[in-house]
Amino acid sequence: MQTLDVILRDAFVNGAFVCDIGIKHGLIATLGSNLVASQDTDIIDCEGAIVTPGGIDGHVHLAQDKSPRAQEAGYQCADTIETGTRSAVAGGTTTVLLFAEQSRGESLRAKVEAYHDLAQQQGSYADYGFHAIVTDPTPKVLEEELPILAREGIMSIKLFLTYKHMRISDKDFLRALHKARELGMVALVHAENGDLVDFFTEQLEAQGLTDPLYKAVAHPAAAEAEATNRAITFSSVMDTPLLIVHVSVPESTEVIRKAQSQLKPVFAETCPQYLLLGKSNLAQEHFCGAKFICSPPLRSDPNDVEAIWRGLVNGTFTIFSSDHCPYRFTGPNGKQLGLSQADNGNPNGMFTKIPNGLPGVETRLPLLFSEGVLRRRCIDVKRFVELTSENPAKLYGLYPKKGAIQVGSDADLVIWHHAFTPRRLVHNRDLHDGCDYSPYEGIEFLNWPKMTLLRGKVVFKDGRIVGDSRYGRFVPRKGCGLPLTRRMAGKWDVLHAAA
Ligand code: URP
Ligand code: ZN
Ligand code: ZN
Ligand code: ZN
Repeated sequence: MQTLDVILRDAFVNGAFVCDIGIKHGLIATLGSNLVASQDTDIIDCEGAIVTPGGIDGHVHLAQDKSPRAQEAGYQCADTIETGTRSAVAGGTTTVLLFAEQSRGESLRAKVEAYHDLAQQQGSYADYGFHAIVTDPTPKVLEEELPILAREGIMSIKLFLTYKHMRISDKDFLRALHKARELGMVALVHAENGDLVDFFTEQLEAQGLTDPLYKAVAHPAAAEAEATNRAITFSSVMDTPLLIVHVSVPESTEVIRKAQSQLKPVFAETCPQYLLLGKSNLAQEHFCGAKFICSPPLRSDPNDVEAIWRGLVNGTFTIFSSDHCPYRFTGPNGKQLGLSQADNGNPNGMFTKIPNGLPGVETRLPLLFSEGVLRRRCIDVKRFVELTSENPAKLYGLYPKKGAIQVGSDADLVIWHHAFTPRRLVHNRDLHDGCDYSPYEGIEFLNWPKMTLLRGKVVFKDGRIVGDSRYGRFVPRKGCGLPLTRRMAGKWDVLHAAA
């Protein structure tokens, strides 16, 4: 009989059944009752508490401030790979997918190498992988670099339809989708129509309407819906699995739902900020609205928030990610750039100069558990696990190594509190990232991970990181493992589709 390294006793696995979880060499070795311990086995008594697979956050920006664009603007990401992944495991997330961003004219592969090196230097508390951001799909990038990256386990690209320095033309978008299809990669897209956003932004600037609140006006729902529709049209022609990231409005959600009902290869992501935050945050006085500037922006209509919740419940959203992209509120290289660089004398600054993004990698799981499972009771633990771990693992080619509590899977596990008293208000001082504020400050959470295990090792326990537990490793990935119902494997090419 094998000696187990760790036994979790009486785990309420995914809120479905109670058993012991036996761990050996970092993997789940056995599930059963009354598992036999040896002298050397560590026992963790879960006392019937819910245990879920470690969270997988497929959308995390860390140390993404090395590009000429960020340097020129003076942005500094508030998190290194070290601090960002420390924050991840403190919130129950054991795998993060980060972004390696190509700037125009640069080698994409060199960028990915640089991020590999950075992760090695800084150390990571969570396992990690990379999405390759393609801003310049030259023949060299498409024909030479992407195939190498695919062989190295980078199985996703990200494309932007907005942002001056990153957006690609429709033709380049099609080229990149075509290559991704051939290599079995998933394409992520930031779907906003850049011209529409630019037009509204210019109109607002001309009238001096630059307070943070106007960010929402500058990014109308139509910009998101149009780009979503276009991206879906193109991915459908190319038959490339597509993920629309950070969906924030019902207009997009409906386009996505329709495409899915037609069995198009379309998946969707939403993020915590679109479930909990809105206009009142952006409207905060004394430039505090800057803390809530992200793209797409927080939406002002409460009906929009309800529509995003509906999409989570009814299956339109495949995954729930943080889009953690932290900039400090104080100091010269974060949100204050919107004040210091405001050249129109508006004491509330200029939203166009405020770096985009909110922190949230640590609060993602407890927020959905608290709000979705416990407070609204609109999703159950099974759906919670799908959205935060199982589906990201499948979409990004990590399943069943990650995203499952089954024999052979990595022992990445989250133990939730059995009885969570007193209830906890989120305070930034309790979080583990490098940012100086939390957008969720003061919100009451009804539960929080009590313990996080990465490949069988406890990395977070009772509110604290356990020693220097930077055990995280790079995880190479396979292609999309979610069902692509319409696909006829191997039979497809562009000319067939066009005929
Ligand atoms: O505001 C956001 N989401 N910043 C991060 C960059 C992006 O668009 O994903
Ligand atoms: Zn984006
Ligand atoms: Zn993002
Ligand atoms: Zn506080």
